[in-house]
Amino acid sequence: MSRTRVISPEELAAQRPYTNRIREYYAFLLPEHPPLAFVRTYGCQQNVSDSEHIKGMLAAMGFGFTEQADEADLILFNTCAVREHAEDRVFGNVGALKNLKRRKPHLMIVLCGCMVQQEHIAQKFYKSYPFVNLIFGTHVLYRFPELLCGVIEEQKRRVEIPSEDGNIAEGIPVVRDGSFKAWLPIMNGCNNFCTYCIVPYVRGRERSRDPEAVIAEAKELIAAGYKEITLLGQNVNSYGKGEAHGVNFPELLRRINALEGDFLIRFMTSHPRDATKELFDTIAACEKVSRHFHLPFQSGSNRILKEMNRHYTREQYLDLIAYARSVVPDISFTSDVIVGFPGETREDFEQTLSLIEEVGFVSLFTFIFSPREGTPAARMDDPVSAEEKVKWFQEMTALQESLSAKRTAAMVGETKKALLETAVGDFIEARLPDNVIVRVKGDAAMIGKHALVRITEAKSWILLGEIKQIL
Ligand code: SAM
Ligand code: SF4
Ligand code: F3S
Repeated sequence: MSRTRVISPEELAAQRPYTNRIREYYAFLLPEHPPLAFVRTYGCQQNVSDSEHIKGMLAAMGFGFTEQADEADLILFNTCAVREHAEDRVFGNVGALKNLKRRKPHLMIVLCGCMVQQEHIAQKFYKSYPFVNLIFGTHVLYRFPELLCGVIEEQKRRVEIPSEDGNIAEGIPVVRDGSFKAWLPIMNGCNNFCTYCIVPYVRGRERSRDPEAVIAEAKELIAAGYKEITLLGQNVNSYGKGEAHGVNFPELLRRINALEGDFLIRFMTSHPRDATKELFDTIAACEKVSRHFHLPFQSGSNRILKEMNRHYTREQYLDLIAYARSVVPDISFTSDVIVGFPGETREDFEQTLSLIEEVGFVSLFTFIFSPREGTPAARMDDPVSAEEKVKWFQEMTALQESLSAKRTAAMVGETKKALLETAVGDFIEARLPDNVIVRVKGDAAMIGKHALVRITEAKSWILLGEIKQIL
C-alpha cells in the first residue's frame, strides 16, 4: 500500500501569500537593491536538486544570488549527514558565520537538509548557535516560505523538523544550476536500511513521483535544450514499488527514451538487489540511455554484505555485471565501496580487492566507515584501528588507480561521443559516456554541445583528445 501523499496544488498555492510577504519585507528593508542569497549544498545530487528548488522559492521571494557569503542577506546551508566528516564541515562553516552576523544583524541564517533532520543535531544548533534563525528538515521543504515568513514576522527563531514523511511536492519553482545538464528527481527516501546508513532515517520511506509528472518535467527539460537528464533517487531501481500507477523503472526509462529530441538519460543510484535483467534489457533497447552504470557494491565479502543488510552476495553481484555485459557490451561500471565496516577482517578486505580486480570499474567512490548515531552498525564491535583502516583504504585506491590507468591507456585511438562541459583555459573538459573526462582544445562557445572526440593520449589522471566533429 502506498503511503505517498502528494502535496496538492492548493497546499502549494497556500505558500504564495508568504512568498509575497517576504518579498514586500525585503523591498522595504533593502529599497536600494534586491536581497541576495548565498546557498551552499553539502552531500549528494538529491541535495543539489533540493537546493535548486530552494533557489526557485527564493527567486520567487525576490532574491538574487551571490557566491560571496559576506555580501549575502540570507545564507542557507543544505546539509548532509552521511559521514561524520560531512557534518563536521557544516559545524565549522556555521560557526564561522558568527562574526558576519554580528556585523550584519539583518542577516538571515537558515539550515536545512539531512543533518538537521536529526533531532539531536537540530537541538545542538539551536542551543549552541544562537545566531541561526531557522532550522527545517527534509519533509517540509515546500513550506520554506511559510517558515521564513514566520521567523521574519514573529522575530523568533524556529526549528521545524517533523518526523512524519511520505510527502511528494509537485510544482515547487526551480532555478537550475546548469543549462545543459539537469537533475530530475523521480523518488524520495529509502527503505533499505543498510546497517551503516543514516539516509532512511533522515529522508523517510521510499515514495515515487507519478510517471506523468516525471515525463512532463522531462519534456520541459528537452524543450529547454537540456542535453543530459539524470534521474535521481536513493534506489531508482525500485521506482514505482507500492504505488498505484504500476509503472516500474524500466518502463519509466522506455517512456522517457521515446520522447523526441537529442538527449542522454542517466540515472543514479542503483541497488544491486533491485537491478533486474529487465533493466539491462531495457538499456540495451533504449538508445538514449547512458551506457554508464553506477552500481554500488560496498563490500566484496559475503559475510560483511550480510552484516550490512545489503541482500545480495558477491556471486549475485558478479552475475549481474556479467549479464549486463552480455546484453550491453559497451556498458561501463562505477561503484561505491566502504572500507573498515565494523568487524571487517583482512580476509574480508581482500575479498573487496579481488572483486575490484574482477569487475574492472571505470572509477570508484571509496569511503572509510563512519559510525552514524542511531544506525545498527554504530553499535557493532569495531576492533580494527583507524590507522589500519587508512592503510587498507590507501591500498584499495592504489589498486583502482592502476586499473583505471590500464583502462584509459587502452582507449587511446578510439573516437567517442562526448559532452563538452567545462572551459579550463584554452581547453574544454568533455565527459565520455562512461563518465571519464577527456580534455580537448576548444572555446567556451562550444560548451553544452556534443562532439565526436578522438582520444590521443592517456595521462595518469586524465585523457587528452581532439574534437573531430561538433554534433
Ligand atoms: N543509495 C545509494 C546506494 O545505496 O548506493 C547511495 C547512498 S549514500 C548517499 C552514498 C554512499 O555513501 C553509499 O553508497 C556508501 O558507500 C557511503 N556511505 C553511506 N553511509 C556511510 C557510512 N556510515 N560510512 C561510510 N560510508 C557511507
Ligand atoms: Fe543508504 Fe542503503 Fe538506502 Fe543507499 S540503499 S541510501 S546505502 S540505506
Ligand atoms: Fe547526504 Fe542526505 Fe544525500 S545524508 S548523501 S544529502 S540523502
